[in-house]
Amino acid sequence: MKIAVIGTGYVGLVSGACFSEFGFDVVCVDQDAGKIEQLKAGKIPIYEPELDTLVKRNTERGRLSFTTDLPEAMVGAGAVFIAVGTPSRRGDGHADLSYVYAAAETIAKEIKDYTVVVTKSTVPVGTGRKVAEIIRKANPAAKFDMASNPEFLREGSAIGDFMRPDRVVIGCETEEARAVMRQLYRPLFLIETPILFTSLETSELIKYASNAFLALKISFINQISDLCDQVGANVTDVSRGIGLDGRIGSKFLHPGPGYGGSCFPKDTLALMKTARDAHAPISLVEATVSYNDARKVQMADRISTALNGDVKGKTVAVLGLTFKPNTDDMRDAPSLVIIPELLKRGAKIQAHDPVGTEEARKHMPDIDYCEDPYQTMVGADALVIVTEWNSYRALDLAKVKKLLKAPIVIDLRNIYRPDEMAQFGFNYTSLGRPR
Ligand code: UGA
Repeated sequence: MKIAVIGTGYVGLVSGACFSEFGFDVVCVDQDAGKIEQLKAGKIPIYEPELDTLVKRNTERGRLSFTTDLPEAMVGAGAVFIAVGTPSRRGDGHADLSYVYAAAETIAKEIKDYTVVVTKSTVPVGTGRKVAEIIRKANPAAKFDMASNPEFLREGSAIGDFMRPDRVVIGCETEEARAVMRQLYRPLFLIETPILFTSLETSELIKYASNAFLALKISFINQISDLCDQVGANVTDVSRGIGLDGRIGSKFLHPGPGYGGSCFPKDTLALMKTARDAHAPISLVEATVSYNDARKVQMADRISTALNGDVKGKTVAVLGLTFKPNTDDMRDAPSLVIIPELLKRGAKIQAHDPVGTEEARKHMPDIDYCEDPYQTMVGADALVIVTEWNSYRALDLAKVKKLLKAPIVIDLRNIYRPDEMAQFGFNYTSLGRPR
């Protein structure tokens, strides 16, 4: 089967590359001619482990191609995936669907034979049905069905998440569409991936409810970790102790500086808006959103406290700027709140990130970007670990101590052990663990 994927952002590019790896003929479409030229030349616009290999292999095999020409891409395609961006709309926080609707208009004109039109982007409940209306209005003779097939992949482990998902969710309402979607995910039958067929609205809501639940889970453990600090308990053991209960689950119970990225902040806001509009506000999600915003600022307070209550005139070494490791994504990264807050309070920042500095520089021009993690520590009054890149997990601690002006380490990801840090003579602050 041939597939067209509209939008070569994160979701579109990964889905397109993975479907071609499964053996389908995939054409990825984007209106950004520069991006398409880059992709044709084998240059991947995002940093995602393994993606370049997958794109190269399938392009060479002739199963994956890139074009700006949607009509050409749709010739003979059994399914068209809409994977364009749905950014937060300025003002009300709702998802901006203008790109999705524009794609629907164009698709409508090009439908010749029966086609399944699939929304892969994260779209608010009701969007699938609206897209169907747009297509029907623009081309009443079009033979098509709508499907919603949300994506659950994580940046940094996107290929593995796509190839070995916990589940596939498909909202569609005709047997014909179900048959097409079943064929697309047939390669996952072998690993017995559960495939859940639902209505369009249910599928759309599953995506938002999943992300909101995970955001809530992270915020819960962040608050528990603050409580651990006050009562002398250890959050790592609490996470393990509660996570072993199968009803709770052990994942997403790591305390941190607050969640960031292109999904949780945007999707929790959009769900909040949908719920309010439907007169069924979800107060737990609303509380999560405001707590997470406050948490990022609180991290600057924590750093100040470790520096005797004042960062004015002090140099702070920061390791990690992206919202999480293995990505160059800076969207809603905690560093974008913590660092400006420290600068406002009069600190000087020397920072390192393995891949995020170019993007970080656009948002935070007033910091010293270092080529090497150790360079950040030269003459610094404290070291702060903001993102848990692997390359920060085994620092030469003797060297760190020598380079820092004062042996103060604030670890916002709990990647070091308090006893080990004490042995090296560090004044070590982490999240929710006794020193
Ligand atoms: C998230 C979801 O995990 C994916 O399932 C979903 O498909 C994706 O959003 C999306 O909607 O497209 P992603 O944003 O790539 O994926 O990153 P996560 O690994 O979920 O991390 C999100 C944030 O939570 C990061 O800032 C991370 O540091 C933080 N986090 C995560 C914690 O603070 N603690 C944890 O235990 C886990």
